Amino acid sequence: MLQLIYVSTARNGDAIDLDNILATSRRNNRRDGITGLLHVKGRRFLQALEGDAGKVEAAYARIAGDPRHFALVILSRRSVTAREFGDWAMAADDGSGDVVAQVATLVEGAAPSVRGTFEGFAGLRAA
Ligand SMILES: Cc1cc2nc3c(=O)[nH]c(=O)nc-3n(C[C@H](O)[C@H](O)[C@H](O)COP(=O)(O)O)c2cc1C
Repeated sequence: MLQLIYVSTARNGDAIDLDNILATSRRNNRRDGITGLLHVKGRRFLQALEGDAGKVEAAYARIAGDPRHFALVILSRRSVTAREFGDWAMAADDGSGDVVAQVATLVEGAAPSVRGTFEGFAGLRAA
């Protein structure tokens, strides 16, 4: 199984329609057996995708071609023997501070480096 983690930035000036991204992602990822986490903070996205390598690559290719964001940088690409994210989830920062605890729970089963990436990002101030 492949696990891929990237960061990106929402395109300037666009209101991000998270409900739309969430609905499409849930539908497609369920169909493709992809689990992971999309963490949204201000204009920044941090996403983990894991599952069958071909399916993950195909999803990433679609996501990378999405004009709603840009400057995608892959932070990590590793093969995993078991899923580290049991489900597919989105954690969006609503400014209340709860997202830090929410993300910590969602990455509980992930490798230390992956946990560190998400927990560090969750603790940042929105840019
Ligand atoms: C930040 C971000 C994360 C996304 N995550 C996913 C995802 O996990 N799975 C997915 O299928 N599409 C995701 N999308 C949407 C894709 O870019 C693309 O619009 C979608 O896969 C097209 O699906 P459709 O052909 O079923 O309409 C994401 C888009 C953005 C901007």
